[in-house]
Amino acid sequence: MSDRKILVTSALPYANGPIHLGHLVEYIQTDIWVRFQKQRGNSCYFVCADDTHGTPIMLKADREGITPEQLIAQVGKEHLADFTEFGVAFDNYHSTHSEENKAYSTLIYERLRDAGHISSRTITQAFDPVKNMFLSDRFIKGECPKCGAVDQYGDSCEACGATYSPTELKNAVSAISGAKPIPKDSVHYFFDLANFTDMLRDWTNAGHLQAEVRNKLAEWLDGGLQQWDISRDAPYFGFEIPDAPGKYFYVWLDAPIGYMASFKNLCDKQGLDFNEFWSKNSDAELYHFIGKDIIYFHALFWPAMLSGAHFRTPSAIFAHGFLTVNGEKMSKSRGTFITARTYLEHLNPEYLRYYFAAKLSAGVDDIDLNFDDFSQRVNSDLVGKVVNIASRCSGFIAKRFDNRLAEQCSEPALFQDFVNANQPIAEFYEAREFGKAMREIMALADKANQYIDEKKPWLIAKEVGKDQELHDVCTMGLNLFRLLAVYLKPVIPVLAENAESFLNIASQAWPIGAQPLLNHAINDFKPLMTRVEANKITAIVEASKENLEKTAAPSSTIKKFETIANTIEFDDFAKLDLRIAKIIKADHVEGSDKLLQLTVDIGDETRNILAGIKSAYAPEDLEGKLTLVIANLAPRKMRFGCSEGMVLAAGPGGKDIWILSPDQGAVAGLRVK
Ligand code: MSP
Ligand code: ZN
Repeated sequence: MSDRKILVTSALPYANGPIHLGHLVEYIQTDIWVRFQKQRGNSCYFVCADDTHGTPIMLKADREGITPEQLIAQVGKEHLADFTEFGVAFDNYHSTHSEENKAYSTLIYERLRDAGHISSRTITQAFDPVKNMFLSDRFIKGECPKCGAVDQYGDSCEACGATYSPTELKNAVSAISGAKPIPKDSVHYFFDLANFTDMLRDWTNAGHLQAEVRNKLAEWLDGGLQQWDISRDAPYFGFEIPDAPGKYFYVWLDAPIGYMASFKNLCDKQGLDFNEFWSKNSDAELYHFIGKDIIYFHALFWPAMLSGAHFRTPSAIFAHGFLTVNGEKMSKSRGTFITARTYLEHLNPEYLRYYFAAKLSAGVDDIDLNFDDFSQRVNSDLVGKVVNIASRCSGFIAKRFDNRLAEQCSEPALFQDFVNANQPIAEFYEAREFGKAMREIMALADKANQYIDEKKPWLIAKEVGKDQELHDVCTMGLNLFRLLAVYLKPVIPVLAENAESFLNIASQAWPIGAQPLLNHAINDFKPLMTRVEANKITAIVEASKENLEKTAAPSSTIKKFETIANTIEFDDFAKLDLRIAKIIKADHVEGSDKLLQLTVDIGDETRNILAGIKSAYAPEDLEGKLTLVIANLAPRKMRFGCSEGMVLAAGPGGKDIWILSPDQGAVAGLRVK
């Protein structure tokens, strides 16, 4: 077998949120491919990292009152724990906020600059005068110029689907502070992608891309390549540009370099040669698994950057489609936005690995997780077909033959058929046609079950003097099972390893030329996989809806009085910016039976506040009245929009919530919260 040198990456997940089932399509797909390569005896390394830079991460840390470094350390740990429990076995998991990444980002930038591929010029951008920062489209919101829907972000309207430039938004405000953005100039640095037009035209047609992706790129190339803005102004969480103080590399510049950085970190730990994989004349293979949303970065910017900085370019980019659940986009309110953690709390991760494998192909089509199909496939294929063979044969071997396999294989031709199947199965795995590989393996499982059905060991067992036959048939069955387990090993490694312990064999390599296991002592059989229980899926959906409530619960609702249990220090109190606010406007929130949307004047600006007071007030009761708000509460993005402060209320809840002056019913002694 050839010993290929292969470096594989999955896209680096953002460090501002949890891993969810959509992400897992990619990490599981990559992991299966890597495990297959390793099982074939190739030197294959799988590296990844958290993508830690950028404004959203900086703001999230800010909201949580921690440093970005603390946030990314915490999230990095959670991501790696999720991946590990799903069996995604990276050789290295690093961070883009690392020394290695800083060094390579600087090196690549300097090489590009010295070769004349970087230019700078002044641009005008929206600026938040309160937060003192520039605002990208996604941090500007306002009313849709077309339909008037409020609270629309960036460049498109969620209500009517219109697209526009953020300057067209009516009453645009900063989504961070609520302030009205002002235009401001700043020098930006650009990567002159157009210098690489010829290089990219060649590269994209040289067999590194899937056909669909190549066609997309041809369109982009025909449209002409624009300069790519690679700098951001302070405050920004990232790497400062070496010769431009106060300017930072845009997160997407250093993110793919994070692949190199993670590998460099691995090289230093294991004594591998970095240049063998990344130098221009490298004979190693380099593959990036990515989702179809980030093709532009990987198939245009990245090869251009690498080539301009005298590194090798990728052998291939493997893009996959997006996950839908029950035929629809994952949705928080339907409970189908499922985090890796929530899934792990209820179901065996290998179910999902098998299900994704069964649905994955080499193309960029979206894949659907349908809960009924999921249960049915796992139950009928893995439990009903594969594990069943072992459980049907193992009992007799244990009870009648002291857990020892027979000395001969009753049907060598059938065994050989199973061995020969290794070739087409390997070709499917290699080509990322995992669905086809699974169908091939399940066709073998059907054959193995047919064999048992025909021989009927349960009847032979009852006949006198047929011990040898019984022994041979069950030995044959377990030998077939063993091959099924090795073929499934990249997909369901835990089940495969448990099968190896049961069969008392070493870790199985790819079974070219495998011989039957004969006259061999095995161990007691333990159930290898149980059926998917429907109520577990319901529980996952429910828990995913609860997650949502936890993050979006109307924070200004006071449900009940609490006795004073915890006191706070004066300093804590002093942090609160309490203001008398005038309610300028109050509106119902469509779809919410608890919330009202208030526009309040807090003196120097107006704020949008979502308050859970609908049970007590009608909007018309509130307009023009005064109330008390906390003005410096970090904005909270809720299901129905962003709330930029909290209205203080008193009362036990229901009709009795008071946010107005005492004539509304509040009396001295009621705790104000
Ligand atoms: N940080 C960037 C990638 C930088 S790579 C140098 C990013 N992060 S992400 O967390 O948004 O996504 C990580 C990967 O998961 C991407 O390849 C993305 O396409 C994939 N997926 C995210 N949601 C997905 C689905 N719902 N379905 C399938 N894949 C999805 O992009
Ligand atoms: Zn609209």
